[in-house]
Amino acid sequence: MAVLIYGAYGYSGELVAREAADRDLDVVLAGRNGTKTRGLAIQLGVDARVFPVEEAERHLDGVDVVLNCAGPFVETAEAMAEACLATGTHYLDITGEIAVFESLVERDREAEDADVCLLPGVGFDVVPTDCLAAHLHDRLPTGTHLRLGIDTPGSVSGGTLATALEQAGAGGMGRRDGRLRPEAPGAKTRTIDFGSGPEHAVSAPMGDVSTAYYTTGIENVEVYLSAPEYTEHLLRASGYVTPLLAVPGVKNGLQALVRALVSGPSADARERERVRLWGEATDGETTVTSRLETPETYALTVDAATTALERIEAGADITGYQTPATAFGPEYVLELDGVDGFLDE
Ligand SMILES: NC(=O)c1ccc[n+]([C@@H]2O[C@H](COP(=O)([O-])OP(=O)(O)OC[C@H]3O[C@@H](n4cnc5c(N)ncnc54)[C@H](OP(=O)(O)O)[C@@H]3O)[C@@H](O)[C@H]2O)c1
Repeated sequence: MAVLIYGAYGYSGELVAREAADRDLDVVLAGRNGTKTRGLAIQLGVDARVFPVEEAERHLDGVDVVLNCAGPFVETAEAMAEACLATGTHYLDITGEIAVFESLVERDREAEDADVCLLPGVGFDVVPTDCLAAHLHDRLPTGTHLRLGIDTPGSVSGGTLATALEQAGAGGMGRRDGRLRPEAPGAKTRTIDFGSGPEHAVSAPMGDVSTAYYTTGIENVEVYLSAPEYTEHLLRASGYVTPLLAVPGVKNGLQALVRALVSGPSADARERERVRLWGEATDGETTVTSRLETPETYALTVDAATTALERIEAGADITGYQTPATAFGPEYVLELDGVDGFLDE
């Protein structure tokens, strides 16, 4: 079964491409830059295809699964998913962008009809939190409110920062009573015990605001990031910057700058750092809490994305729109290297 990795020469794409080749998947590398795509393909001893994402449909011959690693995904997911639906190819990506999840949900029926899956978010955002959400829902099926927290020490790649700028320009989102509503990042604060005592955390529009709802049916979802208290002031100040980011020239200029200046975490950081996750579901009477600890975010992304490809290659029978946990179950995260959990209270 041939797996095409698009955006293969980006920071994350290259890590996944190397891992997928190491695990003996039948990999084809792809991207819009011929020199970079072919250069990496030669190093890994695999085939290469060079095309802009808008022309993907003409380049998926003989491909069974696409893993899209080219972000910001608001610029690539729609075109690639369209090509996958037209050619009967499974679509996976490593997005964490709410707008992308929501646009792919809309195409659920088309994917069912084409007998393929649309499975976005098979990276750090959202695999561990989505599996944690599903686990909490299994523990408390009557849950009406879900809260998730992430405590990560890590740095990010230029592509991730460019994507964060893209999302900031669109403003934040929260999920209340089953609906997505505009909500500024940092609008809520909370004290969370990630396992070593109370820590300050601020709300953040992570992808789970979209996906956890489809995984669990729980209509109120909040996601928090552990952060020092001064972060709230920074986030509030960023309210003044957000309208500026909506201006394409300003946003695109900043994105080009961060892509050029910021490289991703070192191999040492990917190996050394750990991330702690916390989740809570409540129905107003009963509250259940679970924790999870994972490797560094990019290390987890590489393992989760490659494992998803392996599952599909092994014949996982999934069609239509899927979240990581609806596709592979809450235990999917527990099968990844170096993950400890679930620790239940
Ligand atoms: N879910 C998660 O936890 C997770 C983890 C890691 C990364 N990510 C996301 O994955 C994306 C990539 O991150 P990265 O660190 O690999 O960034 P990166 O190093 O900047 O790589 C981005 C890749 O996407 C390609 N690309 C971007 N826009 C494109 C377009 N319109 N058409 C075709 N190719 C395009 C780039 O090609 P060019 O160089 O030719 O522009 C490059 O190959 C980001 O959106 C990031 O937020 C998510």
